[in-house]
Parts: sequence; structure tokens; C-alpha cells
Amino acid sequence: MDKLLVAPSTDPIVKGIEDMINYADEIKNVADFLHCDIMDGQFVEKTTFDYVALKLLKERTLLPLDVHLMVKEPSRVIQKYIDAGANVITIHYEAYKDKKKLENDLKKIRKSNALCGLSIKPKTSVYEILQFLSYVDIVLLMSVEPGKSGQKFFNETYSKLIELDKIREDYSSHFKIEVDGGVNPTISKKLKRLGADIVVSGSYVYNSQNREEAILSLKK
Ligand code: DX5
Ligand code: ZN
Repeated sequence: MDKLLVAPSTDPIVKGIEDMINYADEIKNVADFLHCDIMDGQFVEKTTFDYVALKLLKERTLLPLDVHLMVKEPSRVIQKYIDAGANVITIHYEAYKDKKKLENDLKKIRKSNALCGLSIKPKTSVYEILQFLSYVDIVLLMSVEPGKSGQKFFNETYSKLIELDKIREDYSSHFKIEVDGGVNPTISKKLKRLGADIVVSGSYVYNSQNREEAILSLKK
């Protein structure tokens, strides 16, 4: 894929559903997804909105919803997010003690209308998820610790991206690579060159005077 896709995230929006709808409306002509950060106060400290609000959001925007589940027990809620209309559902490798359960959940998402994503935290090696790569459409590399926007990008992400891109080539796989956390235009340029397909942006886009221009600058 030659063009980098951009998924602005909902995390910096603190007020609620109407603000998320307005944000989606403001960026809809240039963003490729709305990245919905879902936190349950257990997998990470913060608690955000859930599938009830996601369903309302779905009714009010045509932007595809890229749902990043930072929750302790994804198995309990995956179906809710499928029913709410998520276009991508990404679950965390680290949320599963039972890896057979992870495989089953990936297969379940795959069978639904949503694309299936698997995410790893900065300290998890890409080699740990090798056996699951044939079930996923997207691998989400976290370039900050999940939990909040506005953190600094971990430079270690670059080598992980190179490794993952190499794995993709070696296995002739077709999954896309998404990078989430601390991304700005300088970083996104480098990520694109190293094989990323999608970048998430929270604070960089949200805090910009001109958000459409900010999104376009991440694609360059
Ligand atoms: C972190 C979230 C990210 C976050 C990105 O827990 O998963 O999606 O919103 O925000 P920035 O770009 O500010 O790091
Ligand atoms: Zn995210």
C-alpha cells in the first residue's frame, strides 16, 4: 500500500459522545478511520466509553470505526462491539492468559463483518505473536504504554516494525501494520518508509489549530 492511512483517536476527547460526533464530522473528509480507544479501568487505569456509546457514534458518522479494546476480558465484550457496528476490532495479546482463547476470539472477529486486529504493548516482542498472524487483518504495534494519549513515542518501535515487516514478507502475509502512540509527521514519515500502513494520532491531530491539515501532514 503506498498511501499511509490515518486514524485519529478519541482518547484526547474528554467530554463525551457529542464531542466525538463533532470531531468525526470535522475530520471526515481526510481521516481514514476514527480510532476508538476503549478502556475499562482494569487493563489500564482510565475508563472511557463502551459499546453503548459506540453504537450511537456509528449511527452518526460514516467514518469506519477502528476499535482498540484495552480491556481486561475482551472475550466478554467482543460480540457487543461487533453488534455495535465496529469496522475493526483490535484485542490485546497481553489480555489473554489462555492463548487458545485468544485464537478463538481472533477467529470469532474474523467471522464477523469486522476486520480483526491484534495489538502488542511496547515490551512484547513481535515473535510472540507469530502463531496468530494468520488469523489477523491488522497488527497494532503500541509505541507508548496503553492508557493515555500525549506520551512520547518509543524509538524501539522502529526495530519492531522492521522485524514485523520482514516476517510479513517472509511468510507472504497480507496483514496491515498499524502504529499507535506519540506519532507526529516526522515519525509517521519514517514509519511509512519502514512498512507501516496505518498510523493512529491522538494529541497531535486533536491539539492542532487546523486538524484536517494535521491529518494530511501525517500522510506525507
Ligand atoms: C493510548 C491509546 C492511543 C492514544 C494515542 O492508550 O491507545 O490511541 O490515544 O494518542 P497520542 O497520539 O497522543 O499518543
Ligand atoms: Zn489506541
